[in-house]
Amino acid sequence: MSAQHLDWTCAFAARMQGRSVESSRYSARIGRIGQSFAADVKAGRLPYLTMPYRAELEKELPPILDRIRPYKHMLLLGIGGSALGARALQKAFYPAQDRPGHSGPSLWIADNIDADTLGAWMGSLEPKDTVVVVISKSGGTIETMAQYFIIRRWLKKSLGAVWKEHVILVTDTKNGELRAEAQNESLLSLPVPDNLGGRYSVLSAVGLLPAGYLGIKWRDLLEGAASTAAPLIVPESGIAKALTAHSAWSLAVWAGELIEHSYSELIFFSYIPLWNYFGAWFSQLWAESLGKEGQGSMPVPATGVTDQHSVNQMFLDGPRNKGCLFLTCDTLDKGEAFGADAPEKWNWLADKRFGDLLRAEALGTRMALHKYGVPLVNIVMQSADEYAAGKLMGLCMSATILTGLLLGINPVDQPAVELGKRLANARLGAPGLREETDSLAAFTAAGGKAEFLQEF
Ligand code: PA5
Repeated sequence: MSAQHLDWTCAFAARMQGRSVESSRYSARIGRIGQSFAADVKAGRLPYLTMPYRAELEKELPPILDRIRPYKHMLLLGIGGSALGARALQKAFYPAQDRPGHSGPSLWIADNIDADTLGAWMGSLEPKDTVVVVISKSGGTIETMAQYFIIRRWLKKSLGAVWKEHVILVTDTKNGELRAEAQNESLLSLPVPDNLGGRYSVLSAVGLLPAGYLGIKWRDLLEGAASTAAPLIVPESGIAKALTAHSAWSLAVWAGELIEHSYSELIFFSYIPLWNYFGAWFSQLWAESLGKEGQGSMPVPATGVTDQHSVNQMFLDGPRNKGCLFLTCDTLDKGEAFGADAPEKWNWLADKRFGDLLRAEALGTRMALHKYGVPLVNIVMQSADEYAAGKLMGLCMSATILTGLLLGINPVDQPAVELGKRLANARLGAPGLREETDSLAAFTAAGGKAEFLQEF
């Protein structure tokens, strides 16, 4: 098969032997899940799929990209879904920045609150050469806002009134402090469309503004995702048929089977080396969407071949609790030929090329995982360009949503992570958090007793 596809040969192994997507009890839920999915599509609750914002974005983005092209640096302030997609795209399609002799535009992604790193950026970036892009759907995420307050002061100090020309805010269309900031300060802004949560937003301005700045073919990303989505955008009457034929449904059913058979971890093993940050992007998507009410499976990103020499031993012969999404592409450039000057001991490499090694190792690892009983679906990409990446991202997002629906949980919220945020805010004295402040006081008073402390 030459088009990209899923290879199911090793999907139902070990404890799942004899099962199939068709015979799964999850497949029997297609009627109910299909109705719910189609209703969400119709009501505009799945904009990652229907992309109602696409035409507007395609109009708005090009003049902004023209405007920011002269800047040597983009400093992106954002976290979680507001950063991981951009980083995956940057690493996949703009490897130049990590290579010797780089002189083109650079993207710096501030998705952590490390004083040292922020200080280093302020010490080495020239404000006049830098566009600061602040991305937050809620417009109130403390990590992003805190970085923004400091960077805004840095810009103002150096640039005076023109600081405003160096800032673009990407945030909710109506709500949140960043939206208010855009209005109050007349700052350039782009919307994060309604109902598009962070981890589903990579193919909106959230991921495509930084991607476009780097010269990545952002329209192809959209086109690829749209092509994966199109068969799923059907009326309720046709949704069961559409799902049955769609790989996202098959993956969701498989994920349900994995969980049911106590495969509590899902490896995302990328053998497209430049795409290894897709693993981090996928992990957030999967974990934050599905880790609810004691359910879900733990995503484990891994990079082929690097991780063959680190964690693969555990994948193969550790606890039998792992399934694997294995990502390959047979059309990657193979690079240099080894040639006849290889030492005699290695002369069997002479007629091979460097890229043959990656393919052989991908095959070897895939087969070894199978032999060790790891249920595995091989995602075979036809190419590793932007269109293909859009297809993969679209597939992963739909598979995640459908898995959530199959598990009976809401895949677009993340209620549990709010607690830690509220407690941190309370610790810093934010108002309206009396209960959190009290429980923090109790927690800190109880903790740190001498009998619990061990020096090393
Ligand atoms: O996927 C999500 O919804 C989260 O990971 C958010 O992206 C993250 O918490 C940052 O939120 P915000 O974009 O509102 O700043």
